[in-house]
Amino acid sequence: MPIFNPDDEGERTPPEVARLIEAVTRADGVIVSCPEYAHGVPGGLKNALDWLVSRDAAVGKPAMLVHASPRSLYARAALAEVMRTMSFALYEETLEIALLGKKPAEVETILAEDANRRAMRGAIEAFAGFIRVR
Ligand SMILES: Cc1cc2nc3c(=O)[nH]c(=O)nc-3n(C[C@H](O)[C@H](O)[C@H](O)COP(=O)(O)O)c2cc1C
Repeated sequence: MPIFNPDDEGERTPPEVARLIEAVTRADGVIVSCPEYAHGVPGGLKNALDWLVSRDAAVGKPAMLVHASPRSLYARAALAEVMRTMSFALYEETLEIALLGKKPAEVETILAEDANRRAMRGAIEAFAGFIRVR
């Protein structure tokens, strides 16, 4: 996705950005999961969010954060602040399953554990309930 530039909105909106806006507009809600780099939100994700700022797509759109690292407290706080400022309807519960440093095979094993399956299903059901009452 190109770097956000307010001069490239409206008729000059890049096609990748138009697809993102369309996807967010059509979604009942969005789930954001991202790593943390140097205590920040990854630039690519922030850039994608920047393209959504002056549109209607994010306004009132239910959103939930899920994280795979128990350390990523700066990124999740920054992301919550950015998304609230953009008028996403941020669901206050965050799902966290610690996968930091795990190899793909270990990740599969951890995600298949009963407690984690229940946590994921519970979080999605609760988020769906949050979407329904809005
Ligand atoms: C350059 C770099 C900076 C990072 N900075 C942070 C950080 O500030 N906080 C954090 O929780 N994790 C940090 N990480 C860990 C990444 O978030 C993590 O490596 C990424 O989510 C991929 O997960 P994995 O290493 O378990 O595969 C950093 C990783 C790299 C490569």
